[in-house]
Amino acid sequence: MQNILVTGGAGYIGSHTVVELHNAGYNPIIVDNLSNSRKSVLTGLKNITSKDFTFYKVDCNDKETFRQVFKDHQISGVIHFAAYKAVGESVAKPLEYYENNVGSLMTLIRLMKEEGVEKLIFSSSCTVYGQPDQLPVTEQSPKKTAESPYGNTKQVCEEIIEDTSVSDKSFRAIALRYFNPVGAHPSSEIGELPLGVPNNLVPFITQTATGWREQLTVFGDNYDTKDGSCVRDYIHVVDLAKAHVKSLEYLTQHSDLSFDIFNIGTGHGNTVLEIVNTFEEVSGTKLNYKIGDRRSGDIEKIYADVTKSTKVLGWKTEKSLRDSLQDSWNWQLTLKKEV
Ligand code: UFG
Repeated sequence: MQNILVTGGAGYIGSHTVVELHNAGYNPIIVDNLSNSRKSVLTGLKNITSKDFTFYKVDCNDKETFRQVFKDHQISGVIHFAAYKAVGESVAKPLEYYENNVGSLMTLIRLMKEEGVEKLIFSSSCTVYGQPDQLPVTEQSPKKTAESPYGNTKQVCEEIIEDTSVSDKSFRAIALRYFNPVGAHPSSEIGELPLGVPNNLVPFITQTATGWREQLTVFGDNYDTKDGSCVRDYIHVVDLAKAHVKSLEYLTQHSDLSFDIFNIGTGHGNTVLEIVNTFEEVSGTKLNYKIGDRRSGDIEKIYADVTKSTKVLGWKTEKSLRDSLQDSWNWQLTLKKEV
């Protein structure tokens, strides 16, 4: 059984990917410093898979401690999720973001080269497209100047990976540009665990519906969209997780591939108000919300062209927006109290 190192494997997307790797016959090895995740995720993973996964509480920037993971196991590939991801926080703490996101990637790549590990799947983001000129965005759409240090870390990391793959034929990688991940595992054993007040739309909605938050503010209804609220491509986290397994298989089967990039979304855009309405329908609750000012830095509309990932990776989404919001809601209902 191949060992796949999953950094950030206790996090939201990482934990769902651990399940899909296991389902596909891999042995995921989790490395996470638990800075934005909880060890209880391991219990959820065990309840789903009946397996105790190997877990290391290690910071990817701590090179020598991290190296031990490579010494302990024959690693055949790495999926690198571990990173900070709050756009606003990155504006206030740019050095922390560059150090954690860029620094840990560089440490990881150095270790992979030193320890003879060839394959990397990297978590990137549609944030690299900024405010697109044309929709849907393809992998060829131009990258825009990043709106935040967080966004810049994703651009810089993609470049570091590409440059390394050019310089070293034995280092091969795929960057996945995620659109907006939502939902939770259908078992409700794992899901998103935002610490404190959520920045993202769907956890804010579900927390408002349970009464943890008083009211959702819809950030702007005067955009150039069908109902005036912003458009995003919301993808179920399990579909997103499966894209990592497909990418790993593709990288394994194509030993001549040095670097490639794929959009991972549904190919459909939905407005914030459509998300609110669909949530009300699937949950049977009435959401307390108001229309507020625009949030600074928000993109008006973005959604993915997924032609390349569908054709090349043989991957496509299986779950609907209703599935996503139903699973988010079921997960929220299992959370006893605010974290
Ligand atoms: N929104 C609200 N109210 C809220 C929260 C969000 O109306 O309380 C709206 C936003 O204005 C936006 C949409 O819901 O129109 C989605 O917002 P999110 O914060 O959930 O997601 P973003 O698209 O802004 O950000 C996501 C990731 C970032 C990433 C960005 C671009 O969270 O990490 O996509 O890739 F940088």
